[in-house]
Amino acid sequence: MASVAQKVSVPVVAADTSNNVVQTQPKTVAQPRTETRRRRASGPLGYAVTHRVRYIVKYLLAPILYRHAPFGLAPERLAVYLNCLLDKAGVSGDVAEVGCNLAGTAIIASKIVQKFSPEKSYVCYDTFEGFLNEQFDADVSKGMPRGLRKYFSANSEKLVKRILSLHGRKEVILVKGDATKLRPPQLRDHYSVVLLDVDLSEPTHDILELFYPRLSSGGVILVDDCIQGNGWWKAIVGYKRFCAEHNLEEDYRYGFGVITKV
Ligand SMILES: C[S@@+](CC[C@H](N)C(=O)[O-])C[C@H]1O[C@@H](n2cnc3c(N)ncnc32)[C@H](O)[C@@H]1O
Repeated sequence: MASVAQKVSVPVVAADTSNNVVQTQPKTVAQPRTETRRRRASGPLGYAVTHRVRYIVKYLLAPILYRHAPFGLAPERLAVYLNCLLDKAGVSGDVAEVGCNLAGTAIIASKIVQKFSPEKSYVCYDTFEGFLNEQFDADVSKGMPRGLRKYFSANSEKLVKRILSLHGRKEVILVKGDATKLRPPQLRDHYSVVLLDVDLSEPTHDILELFYPRLSSGGVILVDDCIQGNGWWKAIVGYKRFCAEHNLEEDYRYGFGVITKV
């Protein structure tokens, strides 16, 4: 990602003392090039080749590139998630991470699950090919930059298995496919903790519809990228819609949208 980044000034967010997230000062951050700029640079064929080469390099150099767990969560959100796994160790039901990318968070979190609730499975759901076009396009019309389309696509289930194996986490279960289309047995009967991290508004909403009825009493769903303000990712739109439709109060913690079941 860094290799295609340009520097721009955008507003960023910071946590206030009530654990909510508010807009603060502008800061310089990396932004991906737009698809148009990429195509101009290399053409569609050139882009496909570059993409494939990126994937092969990631796979071959995995022991070096991924010697540390490649987690994508902001550190404060990782802390909230790990804390939840400890808090909910006594709640029955498996743990799901929907949208796991390279399984960096899964590597860390599954160690806690194995140690403190060994009866639970840690299940990761992902396309392992990045976003689905129609789901992505729906968010472009809400203002998400087109250049993010391929963010997670240089990936595969085989690469993620390799990374998990490098970290001795072979017991993490991988389920490949569009998570909005999940059905039993891939969809478990009960979950105690769900990390929902697919970034986009429609799949976030539809996946909440699938998982909320299966959330055990006392369980929790954490929806990543629920940053109040003008974030790139539109997961918050799906989270807000789900809360409104189910008469649930919105609850924000360090950029997570939180749903609990009493
Ligand atoms: C932000 S990454 C996940 C990061 C990961 N949770 C971590 O902490 O490292 C988002 C992931 O969601 C996946 N994704 C997006 N839409 C999806 C869908 N409809 N079904 C399954 N996975 C999806 C992408 O492939 C990508 O790997």
